[in-house]
Amino acid sequence: MRQIMAHAEMGDEQHRLDPSVNRLCEEVAELLGKEDAVFLPSGTMCNQIALAIHCTAGDEIIADRSAHIINFEAGGPASLARSMVYPLEGHNGIFGPDDVQGAIRSGSLHAPRSRLVVIEQTSNLGGGAVWPLKQLEAVSRVARDHALSLHMDGARLMNAVVAAGVSAANFSATVDSVWLDLSKGLGCPVGAVLSGSREFIHEAWRWKHRIGGAMRQAGVVAAAGSWALKHHVDRLAEDHENAQLLAKRISALDGVTLVNEKVETNMVFFDVSQTPLSAAEISARLREKGIWIGAFGEQKMRAVTHLDVRREDIIETSDALADILVH
Ligand SMILES: Cc1ncc(COP(=O)(O)O)c(C=O)c1O
Repeated sequence: MRQIMAHAEMGDEQHRLDPSVNRLCEEVAELLGKEDAVFLPSGTMCNQIALAIHCTAGDEIIADRSAHIINFEAGGPASLARSMVYPLEGHNGIFGPDDVQGAIRSGSLHAPRSRLVVIEQTSNLGGGAVWPLKQLEAVSRVARDHALSLHMDGARLMNAVVAAGVSAANFSATVDSVWLDLSKGLGCPVGAVLSGSREFIHEAWRWKHRIGGAMRQAGVVAAAGSWALKHHVDRLAEDHENAQLLAKRISALDGVTLVNEKVETNMVFFDVSQTPLSAAEISARLREKGIWIGAFGEQKMRAVTHLDVRREDIIETSDALADILVH
């Protein structure tokens, strides 16, 4: 990837003159079955731009209560889309058509206007759970029947593609806008690509300029994205196997329990409340050994596998955790 980046063709991205960026956008639009795409610095910017386009001030967005847009985007929906969020109580970040139906406002002038449904594929706080295609289609049908738009936060869409054996285009056909992150499992230094209709992407460009996401010689990083889409997608299956191995090994340790019933992709959430240490203490002790596993609150931890984590590292990590818990 570094070599490809070093030799990337570049131009002025904000004048649409960077061939590597243009190529990446064409590749992603085709992969996701949409008309057009735009390269952005981060997934958060993809979400925020999409929400701002879909909604106008005072509208309401329907999302799972665990959604990244609610919990980790610094209040972006309120400040940029100037919209409210109706949080649903899904299971592992996944909700059903009835949940959406129940959340859609009547149209009363006293209520906000329901405008958008946001799907997170895979669900981060849901433990990397994959939205099944059928469920997505059912949710999409209800939303569209009520003239609501749908947006997919596809930070880990390609993990879902590999785990479920469903094409990215089939997942994306259920929504109006969708993006994928290049800097997570795909292993690029930076960047995400948002896609949708030609008209939607035209508006996205206005927002990209407005909030400072327009770049110049961005081909150096876009080329990494094209490389990753060719070479780093199938191997996500290894990350999923490693996550399963980690789950199996650490759930055998005294006091450690898995939070989710299944490890479907590259995340393992585990509860350490029955151990003598807090999640923060365990995280700090692991870090002393060069292992990074984040604490989520007092009792929960999240381990994420990716292309820099090998099977040997999983063994080392589970052994290190076992060691920390007995000493
Ligand atoms: C589900 C989800 N959406 C959006 C993002 C934001 O992506 P980025 O870090 O590229 O802004 C993340 C990052 O962790 C995420 O997990």
